[in-house]
Amino acid sequence: MPTDQANTWASVALLSPVPDTPQQVEVDADVLAKASALDALRVVGGNALYGRVTISGAKNAALPLLCAAILTRDPVQFTNVPVGLADIKTLSALLISFGVTVGLRSDGVAILRADNIKSTSASYDLVRKMRASILTLGPILAREGHAEVSLPGGCAIGTRPVDIHLGGFEKMGAKISIENGYIKASAPNGLHGAKVELPFPSVGATENIMMAATLAKGKTTIQNAAREPEIVALANCLNSMGAAISGQGTDTISIQGVEQLHGASFEVIPDRIEAGTFMLAVAMTGGKIILEKADIEPLESLVTLLQEAGVSVEEENGFVVVSRDPAKPLKGTDIMTAPFPEFPTDLQAQYMAMLALCEGAGMVTETVFENRFMHVPELNRMGANIRIQGNSAIVRGVEKLSGANVMATDLRASVALVLAGLVADGETTVNRIYHLDRGYENLVDKFRNLGAEVERVKGQ
Ligand code: EPZ
Repeated sequence: MPTDQANTWASVALLSPVPDTPQQVEVDADVLAKASALDALRVVGGNALYGRVTISGAKNAALPLLCAAILTRDPVQFTNVPVGLADIKTLSALLISFGVTVGLRSDGVAILRADNIKSTSASYDLVRKMRASILTLGPILAREGHAEVSLPGGCAIGTRPVDIHLGGFEKMGAKISIENGYIKASAPNGLHGAKVELPFPSVGATENIMMAATLAKGKTTIQNAAREPEIVALANCLNSMGAAISGQGTDTISIQGVEQLHGASFEVIPDRIEAGTFMLAVAMTGGKIILEKADIEPLESLVTLLQEAGVSVEEENGFVVVSRDPAKPLKGTDIMTAPFPEFPTDLQAQYMAMLALCEGAGMVTETVFENRFMHVPELNRMGANIRIQGNSAIVRGVEKLSGANVMATDLRASVALVLAGLVADGETTVNRIYHLDRGYENLVDKFRNLGAEVERVKGQ
């Protein structure tokens, strides 16, 4: 490691002092969880938002990318990693438990090296904290020929099984069994290429199977593949490591297996969900914000809706400028979430918070997860008028929301409550904000820099 970089490693102020070179970093995700289990956000509504906000690297791109480092013995470097997220820290802890060297730096640089895998088992204790841990199964199985990963279990938004992941690995020759809550996968002679047809364009299953297929013998085709930008980023990174992948971004991805992969350096794409969250925030509060390091391309479905609602969205020399005159009423439109490029399920709760203030009524239909309306009762406690009918919610616009004590239940529901608090009369306290820590880097600072009255309240 060149001396200049060696010195900067020492300056890392993440979970624990990082040694001069990216060695084992004791990543104690528990410390983080304890630190914020009882913390809350206090929001005082009424301020329009003005100013600039820098969008972080995408959580849902960074997580599979870090897992891809398992596929080579060489060091892999990532930049623009949202190192402040709890999920990144939890995954780092899991990778370290496999024997991967993980170096995280506060400027978003991450260097990983899997030169020798000392364990192929992902413990329940870590997997239960973050279901994306399942994305280590494919790489470990492809690299070591066997893997034991705890079943991730459900979460607030649904049961979220992993049958599509496992079906793909079986097609590629792996033997899969479920014992004592663990997935035991083995392919002693290595995986072989296969034609895998996904029953649903699962993002995680597409990523897991694609990673495993890079080292399989022969060609794998994934049909009905997910088309999210995070899939394209992962495929492009794997190709920079020597993989032979084509079709990423379409519903058919082909992977020609290769002997081995080598190191690379790759920049994490901007977080389209964080960008969309800030665009909806200023749509609700009024004002004008400039998003830096945001990519508007993958947000077409949201931009169309916002423009129909009376919000201005412009791209000006690399920045995204979003504004709304607070005096102008908001007009809502029905939405239905669906896999990319349709409206993203991860923006459904935030859009519903805006819809609660639009003239007339609108319908929100959630087709991706079976229980992603946990924010509805909380929004109703703030004076919204929302009624759930099956996988749809009828939202009747109200004049005003009123501040209240509300409970966060999952990452995106949490931020929807913060958005509602930004416009509500009086004070809103959003409890259990450890959900927010998982997916939004420096959220309080970012909102405060835009003029919002938000502060983190330490739990008793
Ligand atoms: C990814 O989750 C994202 N997480 C989610 O973001 C996102 O909501 C989701 O994709 C959909 O876009 C990460 O990328 C880390 P899926 P994933 O597999 O891969 C069912 C956030 O807020 N399914 O596309 O788990 C599943 O139950 C998170 O950042 C199976 O039935 O999503 C769900 O109903 C939340 N069997 C649907 O498919 C399987 O084997 C979509 O799941 C896999 C999935």
